[in-house]
Amino acid sequence: MVIKNLEKINIKIFQNDLISWFKREQRDLPWRKDQDPYKVWVSEIMLQQTRVDTVIPYFNRFIEWFPTIDDLADADEDKILKAWEGLGYYSRVRNLQSAVKEVRATYNGVVPDTPEEITRLKGVGPYTAGAILSIAYGLPEPAVDGNVMRVISRILSIWEDTARPASRKVFEQAVRELISHDDPSAFNQALMELGALICTPTSPACLLCPVREHCQAFEEGVQHELPVKTKKNKTRNVQLAAAILVDDSGRIMIHKRPSTGLLANLWEFPNVELKHPLEGEQDYVEQLFNTSLGLNIQLGRIIGQVEHVFSHLIWNIMVYIGKITTEFEEGDEWKLVSVEEMEQYAFPVPYQKMFKLYQQSLEE
Ligand code: ADE
Repeated sequence: MVIKNLEKINIKIFQNDLISWFKREQRDLPWRKDQDPYKVWVSEIMLQQTRVDTVIPYFNRFIEWFPTIDDLADADEDKILKAWEGLGYYSRVRNLQSAVKEVRATYNGVVPDTPEEITRLKGVGPYTAGAILSIAYGLPEPAVDGNVMRVISRILSIWEDTARPASRKVFEQAVRELISHDDPSAFNQALMELGALICTPTSPACLLCPVREHCQAFEEGVQHELPVKTKKNKTRNVQLAAAILVDDSGRIMIHKRPSTGLLANLWEFPNVELKHPLEGEQDYVEQLFNTSLGLNIQLGRIIGQVEHVFSHLIWNIMVYIGKITTEFEEGDEWKLVSVEEMEQYAFPVPYQKMFKLYQQSLEE
């Protein structure tokens, strides 16, 4: 594969400008304190789909709770979900745990250092593999995510559609040609840092850019037109009714979601999907709850609405309070918990928002 515009770049000077800027300007981030492959791995998984500022406290707590591969391999699933609570895309942490178990079983507890072995681990795709191999092991492997595609598309004026999975190969090849063999770790992190601090999506700070002189998009004046990224399909709207159902002693009913699918194994408040507008009628909603839960409840008033946007789905939740009016048998999936006990369970963000509404409604 021939990468265009490479001949216009003096690669040695480009590497040097980029890396010396990174060494001067890099942010002080907790996962940059050492090169432990496990910590690099955890940070890279968290940083997929989540911003650096959000990740920092999660990363610190995660490493406190699970300082080594052994600690994570041995942890209860409830605890790892609690550690991830609020980060979203919870299969990331379940895959991470399966993968560290695999590292312990197959590789003696040492994260493998070849692309073939490391990408065989659950949840480790080409980006994560490249990040671990370069940052922890100093190998000249590309680590191409959306940010790096943006930076490279501008530097080389590459007009490949970055929304197409097939385009990644082009950008990986470009990085293979550009990467410093003396310091692959600094080189890859510098591309990420440049994407985060300077070469941002809508208003790149070209005047501050350490590699502006090498940038083809800047030279052509097309930095705002790159990267090319076609729009994804629209998101689907889902209308839900959910209820904080309380028993005589003030305990709240919670339910564990199924072990597969969206938000698997996280906890939620009882809820039903409303498929027709008519179902917004309160008596009807109450009936839906009673038939789907198989017990008697009485809905009270609506205390608010919660909207939550997932990558391809929008939940709109009508939030009720209500009472449990029959005997209720607890099990693995259904529990009655006090407000204090709630914090032992991992709830997705929309249900955390819902619980806040409930607490506010008690203060009114
Ligand atoms: N984004 C993805 N990986 C990163 C890293 N190691 N440092 C900062 N931002 C990142």
